[in-house]
Amino acid sequence: MQNKVTKAVFPVAGMGTRFLPATKSIPKEILTLVDRPLIQYAIDEAREAGITEFIFVTSRGKSALEDYFDRAPELEASLKAKNKTDLLEIYNDTCMDSGAIAYVRQNQALGLGHAVWCARHLIGDEPFAVLLPDDVIAAEKPCLKQMIEAYAETGGNMVAAMEVPGDKISSYGVLDVNATSINPAMKVKGMVEKPKAEDAPSNLAAIGRYILSPQVLKNLDGQQTGAGGEIQLTDAIAKEIEQSNNVYGYRFQGQRYDCGSKAGFLQATVAFGLARADLRDELEDYIYDMMAMRQAAQ
Ligand code: UTP
Repeated sequence: MQNKVTKAVFPVAGMGTRFLPATKSIPKEILTLVDRPLIQYAIDEAREAGITEFIFVTSRGKSALEDYFDRAPELEASLKAKNKTDLLEIYNDTCMDSGAIAYVRQNQALGLGHAVWCARHLIGDEPFAVLLPDDVIAAEKPCLKQMIEAYAETGGNMVAAMEVPGDKISSYGVLDVNATSINPAMKVKGMVEKPKAEDAPSNLAAIGRYILSPQVLKNLDGQQTGAGGEIQLTDAIAKEIEQSNNVYGYRFQGQRYDCGSKAGFLQATVAFGLARADLRDELEDYIYDMMAMRQAAQ
């Protein structure tokens, strides 16, 4: 089995109910942070980490997502005719080479573990990355790149980890680690999906970046349901911890935005807007004015 990670799975078959009614006809992953869809941030992060094969697990109603990475001949011709080189550069960045992206379908949204399992034939006997596009991570060095570098030293399996407040912990997969560990890569003793706050083994939550061994896919063969009646990736990783004791949590450097939630998406929109030189001043002025008006009204 090779150790280099070149394949990444993007599970995008969920229904995105927290963004209804928009997600009735628009895939959540096409929702736009400033001017780029969420999926573009995930693809860019994977490319910068050295991923060359991209596997999307899609479902009915996601065709906008599939089309997004194709060439758009009319648009391209128009930009060329008008000599819009800046826009052509942006456009070219979104066009993936023929064959670079493979699509597999998840016929029913049975859970994240099931979605990843749907990619098993394309993964084969190789370690692979998983990126959840609704976790957007702003970082100097992309999160997956940080993990792949750490993984080159540890091998095994790796889960991105972040401390979250106690009242939020029961929304996450939670890691059980040695409290004394200060290394960014921490050996994980156990993992549990969406525990009650009082049962959570720590305040370290799994975030949507993983590097997994093919054994984790085999652990999903049994199709066992877990928290919320879904087939959970966390449970397959927990099994891997029991079997191999070779799973690490990785405390990444960077700011993560939960763009699967409305509040997280709005926060990311402001943060990414303020990070843009062409938008910063206008947006900042607007935020100050809004705050002043709110204060005056109180
Ligand atoms: P979420 O838990 O955010 O679910 O999935 P969701 O359906 O996307 O959104 P809500 O909760 O209804 O608003 C996390 C990731 O796992 C994928 C989703 O597409 C998302 O990227 N997923 C989830 C699947 O691909 N298939 C599933 O059966 C479940």
